[in-house]
Amino acid sequence: MITLEQVSKGYPNGFVALKPTSLCFEKGSFTVLLGPSGAGKSTLLRCINFLNTPSSGTVSVEGLGLLNGNRVLLRSHRRRTAMIFQQHQLIDRYSALDNVLIGRIGNYSALRTLLPLPQRDHLIALESLDRVGLLHKATERVDNLSGGQQQRVGIARGLAQQPTIILADEPVASLDPATSAQVLSLLHSICKEDGLTAIVSLHQVDLARTYADRVIGLANGEVVFDGDSQALTPQILETIYHKPHNQAVQPLSSLPSWQAVQPLAEA
Ligand SMILES: Nc1ncnc2c1ncn2[C@@H]1O[C@H](COP(=O)(O)OP(=O)(O)OP(=O)(O)O)[C@@H](O)[C@H]1O
Ligand SMILES: [Mg+2]
Repeated sequence: MITLEQVSKGYPNGFVALKPTSLCFEKGSFTVLLGPSGAGKSTLLRCINFLNTPSSGTVSVEGLGLLNGNRVLLRSHRRRTAMIFQQHQLIDRYSALDNVLIGRIGNYSALRTLLPLPQRDHLIALESLDRVGLLHKATERVDNLSGGQQQRVGIARGLAQQPTIILADEPVASLDPATSAQVLSLLHSICKEDGLTAIVSLHQVDLARTYADRVIGLANGEVVFDGDSQALTPQILETIYHKPHNQAVQPLSSLPSWQAVQPLAEA
């Protein structure tokens, strides 16, 4: 369980990206964050592992307790929290295996990582690649892989951390619709098999409906919906996507149907 109490994020220019927000994420749940560009999805995700330090509020995690201001606990929390990014953040010139091994280095001191990692870490990395169906690409440079394969390497790198929490920020935004569905389905089944707590930001409402146990809708830095994905009615989607907003949002009337919502323009 992850508990956020009145977590907010403001910037020195006075802009408040996340208003005070209190949320609990149950162990093993798969939560999708929806909301227009600039709504605060990435900010919320990044506050959970302090990649963005919250301006106020507290974050606590089952088994560790309150994380605020405690470097040792925060390090443990980050070790067991895998981040998956839209652009994978892989090292192009490295093989798939070497990229996945990066998921293991949080277990070692900076000095120790200058030496080859023990065989056990290689085994964990190979098992992770196997789980995403890419064992046969282990020695391939990642820049020779397709976008979907690269994202699967990104997932394998996260799995190599042996995490309990997955934070995924638009993990399928750079992929075509069919590959997006395959990659998200893979991520969802792995999270369910391993009982991982997943919080995933998406722009695809149809994928949220298919995979989310719970949907949190954000608009203008605040939660405007929190509930079952089956409760995502057109009215609720309008609330999430149509609240007056400081950036251009595609009007509901211009969309063929909510099943066909495409990613909105990046900020
Ligand atoms: N360093 C910063 N200083 C000021 N404002 C910022 C800073 N970083 C982010 N913001 C603003 O915070 C708001 C929320 O950004 P965030 O990245 O969380 O949105 P998002 O919902 O993830 O959007 P997207 O769907 O485009 O990824 C945006 O309006 C953004 O411009
Ligand atoms: Mg974002």
